[in-house]
Amino acid sequence: MTSESGALLEIRNLKKHFPVGGGMFGTMTGKKEYLRAVDGISLSIEPGTTYGLVGESGCGKSTTAKMVLMLEEPTEGEIFFEGKDAINADKDAKRHYKSSVQAVFQDPWASLNPRMKVESIIAEPLEVNTTLTRAEIHTKVGDILEEVGLQQYQAELYPHEFSGGQRQRIGVARSLALNPKLIVLDEPVSALDVSIRAQIMNLLMDLQKEHGLTYLLIAHHLATVRYMCDKMGVMYLGKLVEEASTDQLFDTPTHPYTQALIGAALPYHPDDQKEELLLEGEVPSPINPPSCCSYAPLCPEPDPLCEANELVTKVVAPGHQTAHCAHCADEYGCYWFPRER
Ligand SMILES: Nc1ncnc2c1ncn2[C@@H]1O[C@H](COP(=O)(O)OP(=O)(O)O)[C@@H](O)[C@H]1O
Ligand SMILES: [Mg+2]
Repeated sequence: MTSESGALLEIRNLKKHFPVGGGMFGTMTGKKEYLRAVDGISLSIEPGTTYGLVGESGCGKSTTAKMVLMLEEPTEGEIFFEGKDAINADKDAKRHYKSSVQAVFQDPWASLNPRMKVESIIAEPLEVNTTLTRAEIHTKVGDILEEVGLQQYQAELYPHEFSGGQRQRIGVARSLALNPKLIVLDEPVSALDVSIRAQIMNLLMDLQKEHGLTYLLIAHHLATVRYMCDKMGVMYLGKLVEEASTDQLFDTPTHPYTQALIGAALPYHPDDQKEELLLEGEVPSPINPPSCCSYAPLCPEPDPLCEANELVTKVVAPGHQTAHCAHCADEYGCYWFPRER
């Protein structure tokens, strides 16, 4: 199957359900339980743009990233890359996909092998996936180091000889080695000092311009997303509850969860500290989540009818859609979605 959308990456109804329990609860009920880490996500990313995926810890962002990176197999759903089905692809196409889609992770400590010199860390993907000679690889590693703001001699050093920001530059360098088209950035600056976050974000944006890269940026950190993304999606309990261009989403958030997340006084600059809002109330468990509006438990004026209604997606403006309770959306209106809307 193919996709005609023109997007570099398109995911459709992607799900990852992890079997859980089997322990006391599973044995007692005799039923197999699933944790719905990702529960039907669809999105598409245009070439050369940055798509931001935001949401609180545990809502399924990294699991989505791992499926895109083919580190987790989806329970259901489709992934199209350059219009072609990436999951049911032959061996060569999968190899092309895996070298075209690279990652930068949050913690450069954990993702860089402490016993390898920087040269080997960056050279490894080239040794495995290309036919370049040793000398060519050496030259390429030097060039990439300079591109990420490091120096050629630093190829001889070990990760512990670098600062946190520099280590993340090494992580970025490694992700660039195979000339990827898409880079999945999973919380790339969250572990860094606030003072150096902007440097790494600017580096990523410069590299994007230079190489025409496409990014899927994952963050729980709204200021980072606002700074870097063209379009964004808000995840809540394994689902995408709202999607729009970054400007639309920050200017006119329509889902109550997005509104709460964005809050009243979001600072514009990513260096500003006050950037997250803690929500009141308890998010339902992703193990057997409610099939109705899963936001109902957080709603200050819950209506019993919400619990009998499924989520629906409403287009609120061109390119801007929100998923919410069918009951609240249409017939009656509720605290969050008054009927006049
Ligand atoms: N391998 C796994 N087995 C079981 N549950 C998992 C696994 N990986 C993630 N989860 C669960 O899936 C949910 C989503 O996790 P994750 O994708 O890491 O969220 P996020 O990145 O948004 O913080 C969490 O409840 C987490 O505990
Ligand atoms: Mg995560």
